Amino acid sequence: MRSSNPGQLSLRRLRQNPHVRELAREYRVSTEQLIQPYFVVEGIGGREEVPGMTGTYRDTPETLLTQIDRDMEAGVRKILLFGVPGEKKTHHFSSSFTASQIAAIRKRFGSDLFVAVDVCLCSYTTHGQCGILTAEGDHVENSATVMELAKSALSFAQAGADCVAPSDMMDGRIAAIREALDGAGLERTLLMSYSAKFHSKFYGPFRAAADSAPKGPVLLKDRATYQIDPGTPRDALVSSLRDVEEGADILMVKPGLPYLDVLASLSREIPRPWAVYEVSGEYAAIELMAEKGLINGPAAHLEAWTAFTRAGASMIITYGARYAQKWLSS
Ligand code: PBG
Repeated sequence: MRSSNPGQLSLRRLRQNPHVRELAREYRVSTEQLIQPYFVVEGIGGREEVPGMTGTYRDTPETLLTQIDRDMEAGVRKILLFGVPGEKKTHHFSSSFTASQIAAIRKRFGSDLFVAVDVCLCSYTTHGQCGILTAEGDHVENSATVMELAKSALSFAQAGADCVAPSDMMDGRIAAIREALDGAGLERTLLMSYSAKFHSKFYGPFRAAADSAPKGPVLLKDRATYQIDPGTPRDALVSSLRDVEEGADILMVKPGLPYLDVLASLSREIPRPWAVYEVSGEYAAIELMAEKGLINGPAAHLEAWTAFTRAGASMIITYGARYAQKWLSS
């Protein structure tokens, strides 16, 4: 049978079966590009599931290693660690709890695992702000905070982290951390900057997991004075360009889906490896819809990861990395 319109373009011919669709596909997600976050918490009796985040835990040092072991069997090779110390302070923080978890991971898994570590103070402070406050409690002091961040990044690198990832959003922290690392002979430690991190409501479930919500009798109630305003994407460009200049190896957009436009334009503009963080709230949104039977959870997660890849991310930080092998083969 001749087509009624022989010269007509048929898009559906290339969609008619999985073989053709696979061959014609432009972007695909692979487990290799995924980074799995973990929370390790000092002083809890047993591990606790994070509300809204099925399968995501606040681990003890022991359950952390067992969980990583299990995840490696499921194909995970890259992780992002968040250390949550038991004792909260306002100054003179100790990074030793987190550093010893890094050392334990390194000892157990060697170079089979790529270990990135989040660098911030929000899990370390009594008030949950990402840095040191002024005496009045109305402002995060930039240079005092940057000094503490550089100190803890250095101790994480010395404990064996492959990559340190500052998420605090202070000015000048990338240069300070690079200088501290280089000064200690750690030229090979990678620096991943949360360079385009927005002031977002989508961090909600994370703050319960990391014990890091802004709180307490201080004047400052949120992170608007250091994270990027959602309506001001030019700051994401300026801050990413600056962080490249200061020595960042990898840049990041965070959150992911609500900021895809930013990821698409920044990754075109700045030819560096781009990470995207599918944050706790956007991950939980899919999980909660799936629990209510409103959505196919695994397929929706894969769709979100495909969108990130399309928009220019070469790596994706996601709480679902440990399920990716299963989801991709189903
Ligand atoms: C710490 C930090 C946050 C996240 C990563 N590092 C939260 C925040 O800035 O309040 C968010 C991650 C997530 O929501 O999954 N500064």
